[in-house]
This record gives sequence, structure tokens and C-alpha cells, in this order.
Amino acid sequence: MGIIENKNIILCVTGGIAAYKAVTLASMMTKAGANVHVIMSRHAVQFVTPLTFKTVTRQKVTVGMFDDSQFIPHISLSDLADLVVVAPATANIIAKAAAGIADDMISTLLVSSAAPKLIVPAMNTNMYLNPITQDNMTKLRNYGFHFTEPDSGRMACGTVGIGRYPENDRIFSDIVNIIGYKKTIFDGKKVLITLGGTREAIDPVRFIGNRSSGTMGFAFAECFIRLNSQVTIIAANTDSHIRQAFCLKYPNVRIIDAECASDMRTAVHNEIPNNDILLMCAAVADYKPHYSDQKIKKSDGDMTLTLSRTDDIIAGLPKDPAKLYIAFSAETQNVTENAKSKLKRKGADYIIANQVCGEHNAMGGSQSEIMLISPDDIMQFPYRNKTDNADNILDIIDEKESKHSKSESPSC
Ligand SMILES: Cc1cc2nc3c(=O)[nH]c(=O)nc-3n(C[C@H](O)[C@H](O)[C@H](O)COP(=O)(O)O)c2cc1C
Repeated sequence: MGIIENKNIILCVTGGIAAYKAVTLASMMTKAGANVHVIMSRHAVQFVTPLTFKTVTRQKVTVGMFDDSQFIPHISLSDLADLVVVAPATANIIAKAAAGIADDMISTLLVSSAAPKLIVPAMNTNMYLNPITQDNMTKLRNYGFHFTEPDSGRMACGTVGIGRYPENDRIFSDIVNIIGYKKTIFDGKKVLITLGGTREAIDPVRFIGNRSSGTMGFAFAECFIRLNSQVTIIAANTDSHIRQAFCLKYPNVRIIDAECASDMRTAVHNEIPNNDILLMCAAVADYKPHYSDQKIKKSDGDMTLTLSRTDDIIAGLPKDPAKLYIAFSAETQNVTENAKSKLKRKGADYIIANQVCGEHNAMGGSQSEIMLISPDDIMQFPYRNKTDNADNILDIIDEKESKHSKSESPSC
């Protein structure tokens, strides 16, 4: 059975040029077995007729508050809803929802319904980037509203920028995630993720670096966001396409850039007091060369670089039992033994060990073969997509930490 089958989804359509695209969304949800109840604003009716939605959903479409004298429509629909989706959401409805205004059917439903709410903003770039609209969206996010972020590209008004109605597939997948959402220990938590690979400068043009692309860290960031965590990223030299794709999808996630191990250490130490969980995916240099201010000139003979140790980031953090530290370990041999000793040495709660050589090399690719190591357990995962690995690991950590906190709670 599909996750949204037999679920009651209220689709609120407001007066934007993308209103016609919501017809496809209504149809997709209906085909997936959901009962889709459409409410249209008076302005939305200027763009698409209620009959179109009525035909694809096979349900009555509501427009006015007082159209039906038989019952109190906003309360009946509020009680019924498993999810309220506003797509497209105009700047107007976002502002009204943020202010708690209830002067029409949709805004009243947004105040009266306790169901989860997903907002799909779609508007001209200036309207979207207007600080008032941005503040209104932040306010709604803080009240627990979910958002499918808009796309960037050519707008109906001819300008190019952010604010386009996103692909219905993306909205649909957010709907499935919200309805299928299971509360975990990560809900509402602040998560700091390091990702990418540090570069240690040799001279103004050269550096020692590594092949990490940031894929695993961005995959974890997406999983945490889906689990309703607030994510901050410290990024060191990532693959630009992967970063761009992430930023388009999650434009509001804060990303702090760090070039080298010492920048990374400073950023982690500055940010850790404001976070509950630290996930160290970044490949951080263990050694750095002595830096030359001038470009080192080529000579005929060999060259020797002297390297000194960088400071260990996680081992240098204050121990705090209220925080969860998850470290990574990149290994080419004796993966289990090396990762186990790293877990102890670093004082982390979990180590995720990556195979970084041979056919299943995790560095830079979209797949990895990993192992999750906790003080009392070792779990091996197959070679597969990094997103599946991230999902699975967070599931297991959730299960272990939930048991842990239950066994620690005092008995009455
Ligand atoms: C042709 C046209 C297209 C519009 N497109 C949008 C849009 O894409 N997004 C938006 O926020 N407002 C758009 N508006 C403005 C809204 O229709 C207007 O703010 C209205 O008050 C919204 O009412 P509602 O939120 O109750 O539907 C458009 C207006 C017109 C005339």
C-alpha cells in the first residue's frame, strides 16, 4: 500500500500564474490513492476553474467560506486533514498565514487545522526575495510549517531568478516524506555537518588535498532535514555541481566555508556550542606543509616537503554527554580494527568507517561501502547509494539512542 493511500490531503490553490500546475499535483495524489480536497482562493479561480480540479479529484471543490450552509467547512476540513498543502502559495497567503489572519477559506483553515502543513511558494523573484516575504517564511518555518523550495529559472513575467513553481515530483516526494514521517531523536535537533576535503597550502599556488566531494555529507544533510533537524554545514572544497544542486533545493541552509584543517577546526569549535549533534564527514588533512610565501621555484633535483601534524578536531572538543559526536574514518586496510581504535581515541559516540580503495572506493563517487561502529556493536552495510546508507545509519542511531535514553530514565 502506498504511503498516501486513503490519506485526506487538503490542497489549497492560491492566485498565482502556476495555479494550473497544481492540477497535475492534484491528479498525481489522486492516482496514488489519496482523497484530495481542493480549496481555491477567489483569485485562484481567475487562473483555473474549480471544475478542472473537481474532475481530476472527483471531489467537490470549495472556494468561499459561506458557499455551503450545511456545515462549517473550515472546521470539517481541518478535522479531516492528514496534511494541508498550499500550492502554489502566493506572497499574499504566506503573509496572511504568518500573521495569523483568517479572512477567507484558506487562511482560516491554516489557522484552524492542527495537521502538518506544506507550503510551496511560487512568485516573481522580487516578491520572493523581498525581506518581508523571507521573514514571513522564516516565521512559518519556526512554527513548524514545511516548505518545498521554489526552482530558479525563467519566470512567466520574463525575468530569470528564484521563485518558479518547483517540479510536481519534488512536491509529491515532500508530501510522501511528511505523511510517512516517523518522529526520531533528531526531530528539532541542531546538527552540524562537516563535509568535503581540506586543502593545505604549500605555497600561493599549490596545496595538498584529497578526493572527497562532499556527496556523503550532503546526503546526510538531506536526511537530517527530512527528519526535521536544523542543519548547519561547514564545507571544505566540495564538488561544485553537488553543492549547487543541494543549495537550489535547500537555499536556507547555512553553509560556512573552510579551506584547510585549521579553518575547519576553528569553525567547528565556534559552532559546536549552538549544536546538539556533530557529524564529521569532511576528509581533514592529518599533516600540513610548512607554507612558503613565494611560489617554490622548480629545480633539477628532487624536492622534500616537511609536514607537521594538524590539530585533531573531534578529540579537542569538550566532552559533553548531551551532545552526540559521529566521526568518519577513511580506511584502506584493517577497516574494523582501525575504526574501533579511532572511536576510542577520539571519544566519539559512533564511527562510520569508509572503504576508500579498490572497486568499492567511496571517495568522490555516489556509492560507498560503510560500517557503523559504536562502543558495543559493529554493523556492515552493502556497497550502495550514499543516500540509502545515510538513511539507514540515522535509523539505526535513532533506535540505539532511543533505547539508551529509555534505559537511563529514572524509574518511579
Ligand atoms: C496575472 C497574474 C499573475 C500573478 N501571479 C502571482 C504569482 O505567481 N505569485 C504571487 O504571489 N502572486 C501573483 N499574483 C498576485 C496575486 O494574484 C495577488 O497577490 C492576490 O491578492 C493573491 O490572492 P490569494 O493569495 O488570495 O490567491 C498574480 C497576479 C496576476 C494578475
